[in-house]
Amino acid sequence: MSDPGRPLWSGRFSKQPALEAAVLGRSLSFDVRLAPQDVKVSIAHVLGLRDAGLIAAEEAETLERALLEVGEEIAADRFAFDAADEDVHSAIERGVTERLGEVGAKLHAGRSRNDLVVTDLRLWLLDAWGRVEAGVVRVIRALVRHAREHAETVMPGTTHGRAAQPVTLGHHLLAHAWALVRDLDRFQGWAGRASVSALGAGALATSTLGLDPTAAARRLGFADRFANSIDAVSDRDFAQEFLADAAILGTHLSRLAADLLRWSDEALGWVEIDEAYATGSSMMPHKRNPDVAELVRAKAGRLAGHLVALSSTLQGLPLGYHRDLQEDKEPLFDCVDTLQAVLPALAGCVETASFRLEPMRRAARDSGLYATDLAEALVVAGVPFREAHRRVGELVARLEAEGRSLADLSGPEWAELDLPEGPALLDPDRAVRARGVPGGPSPESVRGQIEALERRLAARDGEGRGP
Ligand code: ARG
Repeated sequence: MSDPGRPLWSGRFSKQPALEAAVLGRSLSFDVRLAPQDVKVSIAHVLGLRDAGLIAAEEAETLERALLEVGEEIAADRFAFDAADEDVHSAIERGVTERLGEVGAKLHAGRSRNDLVVTDLRLWLLDAWGRVEAGVVRVIRALVRHAREHAETVMPGTTHGRAAQPVTLGHHLLAHAWALVRDLDRFQGWAGRASVSALGAGALATSTLGLDPTAAARRLGFADRFANSIDAVSDRDFAQEFLADAAILGTHLSRLAADLLRWSDEALGWVEIDEAYATGSSMMPHKRNPDVAELVRAKAGRLAGHLVALSSTLQGLPLGYHRDLQEDKEPLFDCVDTLQAVLPALAGCVETASFRLEPMRRAARDSGLYATDLAEALVVAGVPFREAHRRVGELVARLEAEGRSLADLSGPEWAELDLPEGPALLDPDRAVRARGVPGGPSPESVRGQIEALERRLAARDGEGRGP
């Protein structure tokens, strides 16, 4: 049935492929991970052939059994791959045909590797998303736990990396959590669009065999079947979109890592990264380096690169299947592998991090942080803001020239300012409570945000996933 050592398409060929051509074209080394999906999709196809009356019920059972066997052998690393197996699809078909002879040779009727590969890949990616999602949720939960504990911990908020206005640590941590919640939403939207079966599209024009793509989609658990067979085999925007969402997620993880790195800098010492998430130096005995956070920060580049790689492959490609499309898989696989390495490591790093309150509290006493509060108090007292800004600015400059700060203002100097709150304006706790608006840094707002986040996560738990 199959010609040993020759590709399954070799009928009209008199020559063997050149070795270097075969080496370039072979995707088995990476697409072998689609084997479970390929078996599943092949079984759905077999049942379709049976329902169309093209094979007998017993033949369908035999084929299904052989497909499962081949799948198990591949999973257990017992399957004998052949040098002529171009990809996992050819290998599985050959394995089945070698077992079953004529019945095996019926498997590929009405299908093509073009509809097969894209259906396999969609299933694989929807499944992989479930694992990535769990990792994102774990990072969010770690942030929320610290935020709950530090709803009242005042820290200097920065703009341009310089002390700006007081915030709470909980508020800053939740800023990262909200970004990650948007990532979850983005991926969820993607999953809805990606849940489309291409099986039955064939090479590009379906087939003459009376197969039912709707039934195939239902069998595979997809939300829908293709609407257009040319689009079905050409479309890789589900892959591109996944990589785009992952690139954005990577950016968010990178920025979280960057904050941890800044805060753990010896100069600030606001957070201590647990030893289990640090490494030593081969030369300097005293070092404890925050490599995990650094690597998370760096991986964003790799994830963005995968999106650029696939986008560059796709742009300008006419519709229909082209072998160019084989290039879709490695970026996707590496993207998922990268996220599966990054997310648990970052989650662990955040979970075990301990915040050092004394240096943070000391930094929050930097009186410059409260200059805006002074200006706003003047506004409440009726001074136009621009005038208030100028007055406080001049006061800060004069104090600085005298080697003093707002914290050194004397009683008479406060009296001169004519602000009823007086030195209390420099109190960190008052300053964050005074910013009580929802979405602001006050402890009350932080608690409200946590409740809202918990509701969002709980609503997700109940959501149905793709196939
Ligand atoms: N290995 C191929 C891929 O990943 C499968 C499809 C091959 N189709 C073809 N017409 N040569 O894209």
